[in-house]
Amino acid sequence: MSTGKTIAVTGATGNVAPLIISLVQAGGHKVRALVRNPAKAASLAAQGVEIVEGDLSRPRTIEHAFDGADAVMSIVPPGPLAPQQASAVTWAARKAGVGQIVRLSAFGAAHDAPTVNSRLHALSDAELERSNLPYTILKPHFFMQNLFMAAESVAKEGAMYLALGDGKLGMIDIADIAAVAAHVLSTPGHLGKTYVLTGPTSIDMHHVAEALTQAVGKPVRYVPIPVAALDQGLSQMGTDEFTRTLYCDYFTAYSANWGDAVTDEVSRLLGRPARSIADFAQAVAPAFGKAQS
Ligand SMILES: NC(=O)c1ccc[n+]([C@@H]2O[C@H](COP(=O)([O-])OP(=O)(O)OC[C@H]3O[C@@H](n4cnc5c(N)ncnc54)[C@H](OP(=O)(O)O)[C@@H]3O)[C@@H](O)[C@H]2O)c1
Repeated sequence: MSTGKTIAVTGATGNVAPLIISLVQAGGHKVRALVRNPAKAASLAAQGVEIVEGDLSRPRTIEHAFDGADAVMSIVPPGPLAPQQASAVTWAARKAGVGQIVRLSAFGAAHDAPTVNSRLHALSDAELERSNLPYTILKPHFFMQNLFMAAESVAKEGAMYLALGDGKLGMIDIADIAAVAAHVLSTPGHLGKTYVLTGPTSIDMHHVAEALTQAVGKPVRYVPIPVAALDQGLSQMGTDEFTRTLYCDYFTAYSANWGDAVTDEVSRLLGRPARSIADFAQAVAPAFGKAQS
């Protein structure tokens, strides 16, 4: 019989949660996933995850989602409603009396941060920090997986068009974020702690292009574009104004080196180095046009 915990996870069909879910299941824990659309959770159900339906924007629908759970992994999507949604998760976790809430926040979250997403995250971080609940906050840097936005142009033209200037970032692979989350959910000693998670080095996009050149096996160049061009492109794609602001804020701040920082939290917590851009590039090279052998 399993002696593991029951860990409830929100944002379960997103980028990071599925990796966390697989890791905690492998560690012998049961997982309950809160999803708004069970049809999108078929693969989670097939791997033995209990599926609970609820909408983060409608607190009543998640009121009892965590009853009987030992821990909650709180992931909410970026958006204007994020503080309300995170608050609903925290409230439901409080009512369920869970022993730990692990919250996915973001690098740089602060009331005076230059990006709207960071300021909204700061509100939810502050709520949890003052909640008297047993929490752990993870603040990961820019996901290496965001580079997939350049995959098509790299594959077709060998060029990455991004509005990041010569800014350096301590970008991180989401596999490392998931590994840290699984670690803090399944080992003691993390309550009341905030971990800022980054990759091993702070790098600019020329460095990324070099890593992709090596991995893909053909020249990849970085072409900086103005943030205004990014905004125009997003607008033409019909992107909503909040999301355009979110992107433009981040790309402006990162171009000015706001993201030029690394920590050793990943290696300290996991006992191994954080994944490098070279390793990430090797793993994703087929999506960036590497010929399949
Ligand atoms: N991207 C980055 O570089 C970065 C860096 C640091 C921190 N972060 C933070 O990471 C978080 C996002 O994590 P992620 O990328 O893993 O998630 P994500 O891919 O953005 O996915 C969001 C998840 O939330 C679910 N969801 C959306 N609206 C919902 C609702 N009303 N009710 C219930 N579920 C809902 C989505 O379900 P559906 O599948 O049904 O849409 C999906 O499972 C954000 O807080 C972001 O600020 C991102």
